[in-house]
Amino acid sequence: MLDSTATPAGLVLALGLLLLPFLFHLQKEGWPRPKNLNLHTFLPRLRLRPNQSSEIISLRMYPIKSCRGFEVTSTTLKEHGLDLDRRWMLVDASTHEFLTIRQIPDMTRISTALSPDGSELIISIPITKSRNKTIQIPSHPTPEWLETNTTIAPVKIWDNDTDGYVHGSEINDPFSAFLGRDVCLVYKGPTPRVLKGNGAPSLLGRVQTTGFPDVFPVLIASEASLKELNGRLEKIGVDPITVERFRPNIVVRGEAPWVEDSWKTVRIRRGGESSNNRSGAGSKSSVPLDLDIVARCARCQVPNVDPETAAKHKKQPWDTLMSYRRVDEGIKWKPCFGMLSAPRSEGVVEVGMSLEVLEETREHRYITGF
Ligand SMILES: *[C@@H]1O[C@H](CO)[C@@H](O)[C@H](O)[C@H]1NC(C)=O
Ligand SMILES: *[C@@H]1O[C@H](CO)[C@@H](O)[C@H](O)[C@H]1NC(C)=O
Ligand SMILES: *[C@@H]1O[C@H](CO)[C@@H](O)[C@H](O)[C@H]1NC(C)=O
Ligand SMILES: *[C@@H]1O[C@H](CO)[C@@H](O)[C@H](O)[C@H]1NC(C)=O
Ligand SMILES: *[C@@H]1O[C@H](CO)[C@@H](O)[C@H](O)[C@H]1NC(C)=O
Repeated sequence: MLDSTATPAGLVLALGLLLLPFLFHLQKEGWPRPKNLNLHTFLPRLRLRPNQSSEIISLRMYPIKSCRGFEVTSTTLKEHGLDLDRRWMLVDASTHEFLTIRQIPDMTRISTALSPDGSELIISIPITKSRNKTIQIPSHPTPEWLETNTTIAPVKIWDNDTDGYVHGSEINDPFSAFLGRDVCLVYKGPTPRVLKGNGAPSLLGRVQTTGFPDVFPVLIASEASLKELNGRLEKIGVDPITVERFRPNIVVRGEAPWVEDSWKTVRIRRGGESSNNRSGAGSKSSVPLDLDIVARCARCQVPNVDPETAAKHKKQPWDTLMSYRRVDEGIKWKPCFGMLSAPRSEGVVEVGMSLEVLEETREHRYITGF
């Protein structure tokens, strides 16, 4: 019982003493979390569907992180991602910290393309409504080119320091003029950027690296899921959005919306080949490519940005996604769209190839932190 002589300090002390065992528990165990929560509680639709197969309908790369990318019909899947995906990024000129659409939506108005023979990356930076500044650099710069035209320096992406080949002012100046701040274009340096979180070596079973994607090498998205989302947007009078909003690398048709939520391992191969037919292995392009699906892709508000105009919608699709796509127990405060993957091998990938689901799981749980 409290008597009138109890001082506020005394109350705090008493409360503190009462809470002590709990604080001790926290310190030892971390915040309590529901144990063994079955995802079915949240996601009645997460039924496993054996032997799924779908068709690749689009391959997309974004050579400069957060800038506009392009579609190709054929490319090489590398362990770090699609050949030219996120090999470059823009950093602040003085801190060398990475810049993204999150802070600077206008980055999406910088566009990229390949020269007809694929040897050059062509970057277009708007100068006025009717004029672009065009920059051309080798799409696969040689060590000699990098040595003459760049300087290697530490760069920071999320909480991690890695390195990059920093371009000179001739290339950087048009970016700085457009963005209204001093920036540098950097190409991924030689220090491996080892996957973390769900892709950490202890979980993945191998050490795998990537360039400048946020977390993992390849994002796979489903058109069926996008259609389902667009159906919801249309009902509330919002224009349908394109898959480019989500910046995926591989888009499949999708048998049904959201069946990808449970994918664990997938195999890409030419349609019509039997998955246990290895006799075509002599031809590089017919070797099946297996990818580990390491996590669902937890989204931020970047999909609210129109990739063409950089206009950011105040609410959509974020609000709609938040209303029904917070499906991952590991990151419940963010909605999920698409699946993040780490290729096990490298080879040619083409639109029209099939993507088969080899294994499914109900155990996906996003590990936050980079
Ligand atoms: C899935 O494919 C395997 C191997 O071809 C087969 O044994 C199994 O019966 C199939 N499962 C279903 C549900 O179709
Ligand atoms: C500038 O670049 C954009 C993106 O590539 C393109 O759509 C536009 O037509 C270009 N404008 C001019 C004037 O070339
Ligand atoms: C790269 O270096 C070579 C040799 O010094 C030079 O001719 C070329 O103009 C440079 N390219 C760029 C884009 O700076
Ligand atoms: C960031 O990467 C470097 C180089 O790979 C590594 O030594 C360092 O431990 C990483 N830092 C964090 C916070 O993971
Ligand atoms: C196996 O693949 C090869 C090369 O793609 C093809 O010629 C052959 O008919 C296939 N065999 C079977 C049994 O599917």
